[in-house]
Amino acid sequence: MKQLITNIHQLVNVRSENKLLKGTALAQLPVMDQAWLAIENGLILDYGAMSALNQLQDSFDQTIDAAGASVLPSWCDSHTHLVFAASRESEFVEKLKGMSYADIAAKGGGILNSARKLQACSEEELFQLALPRLQEWMQLGTGAMEIKSGYGLTVDAELKMLRVIKRLKAVSPIPIKASFLGAHTYPLEYRDNHEAYIQLIIEEMLPVIAQEGLADFIDVFCEDGFFNKAETIRICQAGAAIGLKAKIHANQLSLSGGVEAGIAVNALSVDHLETMDETTIAALAASNTIGTLLPTAAYFLRMGYQPARALINAGAAIALASDYNPGSSPSGNMNTVVSMACIQMKMLPEEAINAATINGAFAMELESEMGSICKGKRANLIFTQPLSSLAYLPYSFGSNLIEKVMVSGKFI
Ligand code: NIG
Ligand code: FE
Repeated sequence: MKQLITNIHQLVNVRSENKLLKGTALAQLPVMDQAWLAIENGLILDYGAMSALNQLQDSFDQTIDAAGASVLPSWCDSHTHLVFAASRESEFVEKLKGMSYADIAAKGGGILNSARKLQACSEEELFQLALPRLQEWMQLGTGAMEIKSGYGLTVDAELKMLRVIKRLKAVSPIPIKASFLGAHTYPLEYRDNHEAYIQLIIEEMLPVIAQEGLADFIDVFCEDGFFNKAETIRICQAGAAIGLKAKIHANQLSLSGGVEAGIAVNALSVDHLETMDETTIAALAASNTIGTLLPTAAYFLRMGYQPARALINAGAAIALASDYNPGSSPSGNMNTVVSMACIQMKMLPEEAINAATINGAFAMELESEMGSICKGKRANLIFTQPLSSLAYLPYSFGSNLIEKVMVSGKFI
């Protein structure tokens, strides 16, 4: 099946090579004006300028007139908790009345609340709950997604979550990556015996995960009151021993040592980064680890935003993701994430789009198939309404400017 898309106003993020964008390189967003794009069997075959389109259109099975739409590579959402049993809007209201995220966690709410509800759900129920969520974010332009466990917190429930993610991978038209986040918090019964829970993760959970191929990455919530730096390193090393690279929840609520732990284990990414200082910014910039910023989580928890400008100026590699979860970011809308990154973190539109596409793909090790308009990559594409300029996308926050979404050459 060969398809030709004509009359693309702007073909965005056209790249022939895959390079993680660090520092000033993030602002370079290559765009081709008035372009065509050819697709074969769901993959990008070729592209070029409309003025140079020769009369070979007969050799295509289908021609699609983009009619002035801009075409972008789909969003690559490299940090989500898509699988959960129930929303938590009652805690949202408690927070409106003055409780903090830490207060709610301390009285058994938060992650533990989600864990209780997930433990009571069957694998089938969780799968049926997750599927429409995945579809909702796909319709809003997400073309690849990472999904974490971490609301199970028992051997059975963590494996159940990972099996749900495995089933989602099998039916999803978009690529999905799974991260094992058994170290999300200490279950109540292990509150005074952290060592026993860490042993459960390393000795009971990881071997089954290895045996059944249930995860691509390992994650730890490195935070005061959760897992400390040494525990984080130890758990990530155990993950590395079965081939799981680390993606760490780091420096969300405090200077937790999460960034340093991530660098020490050569993590693929350290995510959140609301709380950074000069030392951690410089250390991250000097490393190969990606800093994944989650502005909608900072927004929802009314925290200071991540220091995107300081990170970019220091030369770090920045990705943007939604952190979609019921506690701190009940939205997986990557368009909002991109807007918020510009409005609140002063990222340039070009930087935000790169961070949510090619760098997001790198943060899932999907850069060979996702994240840019490149021959051989998947035709997972966003078709916008006619735009006066690309900056109109983040500028007009709250409007849905996506006209159509394509996944592997098919409109969904
Ligand atoms: O990424 N920070 C840790 N974990 C999640 C929130 C978990 C929850 O509140 O359910 C996050 O923000
Ligand atoms: Fe998260």
